[in-house]
Amino acid sequence: MSETLRWGILGTGMIAGKFAADLKSTSLGELSATGSRNQSSADGFAAKHGGKGVVGYNVLVNDPEVDAIYNSLPNGLHAEWSIKAMQAGKHVLCEKPMARNTTEVEEMFRVSEKTGQILVEAFMYRSHPAIQKLIDTVRGGALGQVKLIRSNFSFTREVMESDARYQVNHAGGGLMDVGCYCVNLARAVMGSEPTETACFAHIHEKGVDDYAAGLLRFGEKTLMTFTCGMTVHNDWTTYISGDDGEIEIQAPWFCDGTFKLTREGKTEMIETKTDKPMYALEAEAFAAAVAGETPWITKEDTLGNMKVLDQLRSLSGVPVPG
Ligand SMILES: NC(=O)c1ccc[n+]([C@@H]2O[C@H](COP(=O)([O-])OP(=O)(O)OC[C@H]3O[C@@H](n4cnc5c(N)ncnc54)[C@H](OP(=O)(O)O)[C@@H]3O)[C@@H](O)[C@H]2O)c1
Repeated sequence: MSETLRWGILGTGMIAGKFAADLKSTSLGELSATGSRNQSSADGFAAKHGGKGVVGYNVLVNDPEVDAIYNSLPNGLHAEWSIKAMQAGKHVLCEKPMARNTTEVEEMFRVSEKTGQILVEAFMYRSHPAIQKLIDTVRGGALGQVKLIRSNFSFTREVMESDARYQVNHAGGGLMDVGCYCVNLARAVMGSEPTETACFAHIHEKGVDDYAAGLLRFGEKTLMTFTCGMTVHNDWTTYISGDDGEIEIQAPWFCDGTFKLTREGKTEMIETKTDKPMYALEAEAFAAAVAGETPWITKEDTLGNMKVLDQLRSLSGVPVPG
């Protein structure tokens, strides 16, 4: 049985605010404290979302009123602060991508095993029941032999000096920020690791990839293409196509609970709705993992994804820091 977790949030940025807001929709988690580099952000966040605001990430991870840490810092701070949190006796839900490279991820899981603290990568979209249904549908053979997967995730917004997505040392770039989702979904529906990878990337003047196109091969029979970027308008659709049918899902990353399944000339909308917002589902899945269930993103899944991201970056000339 899951118990209510007292959460501590590292950082007061964009996704920290969304997680804190959605926590209000679950009885399995409550916001206890948020840690910031500065007093005014800590106080502002606490006034808006509840709990207390503390200054200094070290103060947060050592807070006795916190059971679990949500690490929503930039990618370059995921390993350092997740490790410190686990060493301080906290479970950690760490934002995607788990770290800057595979070596860091391996070290994080070593600390998880040594301390006995749960560590899960926050691919929140995978905690939605419709995504699990999609994965089960494909793996159950509804599409026959999966032959082609096409997946996309991009956005465009003003480039800000302070945005770690444009900083090489923080492992910024489109592949790490959004391409990681396309890779994750393809690996999830295939239930295996790609046997070959290829990638081209455009390098932004800040040194990170601002858009990229990649190709994964799963054995002899399945090919996957994806596009991702941070300076480009692009649709968010994923298609999974086999010899018996096709699935189309409009925006799996922010799932509305539906996807289209076409077989034998007929298209049906498969609905798996939930009344919980995405990050509340994730907080509940994490509480279940702390209570002993297998996490919705396993260590092997996280490591597999990061290994592919390492390969894609080195194949396309994108720096892999750390
Ligand atoms: N799962 C999702 O849906 C989702 C969506 C977006 C992003 N993410 C992930 O969440 C993480 C944070 O993304 P975000 O969009 O929330 O970023 P953000 O708005 O820039 O927030 C990051 C926070 O980290 C702290 N920080 C510490 N050192 C920093 C530095 N050198 N530069 C910038 N911020 C620093 C800051 O908090 P203080 O000033 O309070 O210390 C800042 O507010 C990333 O790993 C990203 O990949 C996940």
